[in-house]
Amino acid sequence: MATGELNLHHIGVRFGGLVALDDVSLRVAPGKVVGVIGPNGAGKTTLFNVISGFVTPSDGSLTLDGKPWRPRPHRLSGLGIARTLQGVGQFGGMTVLENVMVGVRGRRAEAEAFAALDRCGVAQYAAVRPGTLPYAIRKRVELARALASKPRILMLDEPAGGLDTDEIRWLGDLIRGELIKDSGTTVLLVEHHMDLVMSVCDEILVLDFGKPIALGTPGEISTNERVTEAYLGAPA
Ligand SMILES: Nc1ncnc2c1ncn2[C@@H]1O[C@H](COP(=O)(O)OP(=O)(O)O)[C@@H](O)[C@H]1O
Ligand SMILES: [Mg+2]
Repeated sequence: MATGELNLHHIGVRFGGLVALDDVSLRVAPGKVVGVIGPNGAGKTTLFNVISGFVTPSDGSLTLDGKPWRPRPHRLSGLGIARTLQGVGQFGGMTVLENVMVGVRGRRAEAEAFAALDRCGVAQYAAVRPGTLPYAIRKRVELARALASKPRILMLDEPAGGLDTDEIRWLGDLIRGELIKDSGTTVLLVEHHMDLVMSVCDEILVLDFGKPIALGTPGEISTNERVTEAYLGAPA
């Protein structure tokens, strides 16, 4: 039985002359929540794009469950891997339910999609087109879309963006709760909200201009001098 262990070995990504990722290695153990933080442009979304197969690394390799792996976007859901987009990225011509059904297979697709919407507290919008909804509701729909396929590896790209304090608390409970972490789902979380990152992550990777500058527990990261300088800002 596959466990969902993901390993990145010395990943490098270049876009022309720009080095977006430089020698990034990371082990994402099954059932753990691993945060990826860093200033804008640090390479966080690019890292997700590498794992999703949207960007092919110039250097390095990946393994999934210990086997060499070349990600392909259209094969992710079959492997139990789902991601949310940094924005909201839903199809305007489809209802919320239809959007969430994309990527869910089988006869029970509609029921699974509806259940995911319900767990994210937005089932009442199932028949609505997402373009008419407030941003925070659309972020919940985006989460439901990723959760509906019951992924074993879930990548969340700035899920708290545009959410208020109560909504971020709800998101933290969701990540830590039975729907995600307690069910054994492995989570990769890119996020700027430090309270959320520090409260849900087992381990955090810090990127700066594509380079890994620290990897450790929330406690280690919050007291790491290089991180404080590069990202968190000097203490007041
Ligand atoms: N497809 C692309 N083509 C060219 N440059 C890109 C592309 N995607 C990202 N970049 C550049 O790579 C760097 C890292 O971007 P990104 O991964 O989106 O950062 P983050 O998500 O940490 O803000 C940025 O300088 C960005 O402009
Ligand atoms: Mg990004």
